[in-house]
Amino acid sequence: MVLPSPGENCQHIRSVRYIVLPVIEISRQQIETMKFVRFIMQNAALASAPKHIDHFSKFSPSPLSMKQFLDFGSINACEKTSFVFLRQELPVRLSNIMKEINLLPDQLLTTPSVQTVQGWYIQSLMDILEFLDTNPDDHRTLGNFADALVMIRNRHNNVVPTMAQGVLEYKETFSQDPVTNQNIQYFLDRFYMSRISIRMLINQHSLVFDGDTNPVHPNTIGCIDPHCTVAEVVQDAYQSAKMLCERYYLISPDLFLQEVNSNKKNQSVHMEYVPSHLYHMLFELFKNAMRATIEHNEGKTSLPPINVMVSLGGEDMSIKVCDRGGGVPFRKIDKLFSYMYSTAPSPQLDDHARTPLAGFGYGLPISRLYAKYFQGDLQLYSMEGHGTDAVIYLKALSEDSVERLPVYNKTALRNYKVSQEADDWCVPSTEPLDMLKYKKAK
Ligand SMILES: Nc1ncnc2c1ncn2[C@@H]1O[C@H](COP(=O)(O)OP(=O)(O)OP(=O)(O)O)[C@@H](O)[C@H]1O
Ligand SMILES: *[C@@H]1O[C@H](CO)[C@@H](O)[C@H](O)[C@H]1NC(C)=O
Ligand SMILES: *[C@@H]1O[C@H](CO)[C@@H](O)[C@H](O)[C@H]1NC(C)=O
Ligand SMILES: [Mg+2]
Repeated sequence: MVLPSPGENCQHIRSVRYIVLPVIEISRQQIETMKFVRFIMQNAALASAPKHIDHFSKFSPSPLSMKQFLDFGSINACEKTSFVFLRQELPVRLSNIMKEINLLPDQLLTTPSVQTVQGWYIQSLMDILEFLDTNPDDHRTLGNFADALVMIRNRHNNVVPTMAQGVLEYKETFSQDPVTNQNIQYFLDRFYMSRISIRMLINQHSLVFDGDTNPVHPNTIGCIDPHCTVAEVVQDAYQSAKMLCERYYLISPDLFLQEVNSNKKNQSVHMEYVPSHLYHMLFELFKNAMRATIEHNEGKTSLPPINVMVSLGGEDMSIKVCDRGGGVPFRKIDKLFSYMYSTAPSPQLDDHARTPLAGFGYGLPISRLYAKYFQGDLQLYSMEGHGTDAVIYLKALSEDSVERLPVYNKTALRNYKVSQEADDWCVPSTEPLDMLKYKKAK
């Protein structure tokens, strides 16, 4: 159902009343004037956006540690403190990345999709700036702020597919050069990382201060589980991928799960982490492993299982997902993390017919960002012909888990300006070497 916009609604009421009471004509003019004034004011506000972006992008974002996130949400959690922090930090994070949006190649920046995304960012920045001179001691302020955050989060729900659409349009219309591709990759990694961090801040504030405890996981603090059982998340992600897989292929490989806990022998592995992030990464890895396993073993009577190893050491908590799905040539491994390259056919936003186990080709790059967000990583080790090991590395200690955030400064700017260096390694000739020449010279 399409909801009428407020403007349309007014028109409807007005015309009905108009028939009954022509006096309302005056008020119609007033409404028009009010609309006009609001239009002007909104545009004036938007016109001032670049000034605000310039201002807030001069600050570096403040990365939070897992411990700080937990403190914000602990018993002595203070909504006012969180509010005062966020009304400064959110504009800083938004402005830092908005500066980088402006560095995109013009042909990409001017696509309708990227314009839409940019519009959302400007609107959200302005929404938060409204709170700069409000009184934190007024509980209505806090309520309004919480509402604004929900609105902002919803506004940005579709940022990833919309941005991906823009990149697709750009890719189809313009020839690409390696430097531009590298810039877009660099930008998107930072842009999506910034988005993960902003959503994390918003979610923590919303979940911690909405007054209810999470009915399913009463011990979580916002979206952080201080006692996250890694094997449980592995099982959950496997089950979801398995359901999806069986719907499409009618079969699915089994899971073998092993755990090593070098700290507390014989205990399952726990850590302070965001279960939804871990789930996201594992779900993507399982989908890939299942698809490869099934397509590589077509016609065989049984499928090799997916082996998962969870290992907790003094510094790292690592999860290895091993499949025997035939692997990927070494040359292509880096490309699997590229936003500009995908083996799957380009899906449209409204395309529901594609295979559910492969989509935009964003599974790996986005999962790696989730791993990197708290100083971890995600790497693929593949043996073509045999299979692939995907390893998620996370920090075992919560004091090492600190947000990894992009900052807009001269270093970042320089990275956009790199030109392609001439190669300093020989290019093998395609012609066979003429040995006669060397013989004569002797
Ligand atoms: N375990 C694996 N074995 C073999 N090939 C793999 C494996 N994992 C990934 N790939 C290859 O890497 C490509 C990129 O993977 P990625 O998950 O990023 O995107 P996708 O699966 O194509 O789409 P989606 O966005 O739905 O995940 C896959 O299309 C596939 O060709
Ligand atoms: C370790 O686990 C195994 C299997 O769960 C169990 O048989 C054994 O008794 C345990 N040992 C200790 C010391 O808890
Ligand atoms: C940019 O910021 C990073 C992180 O704060 C810092 O390490 C780097 O030196 C900065 N670059 C410049 C040119 O200031
Ligand atoms: Mg995938």
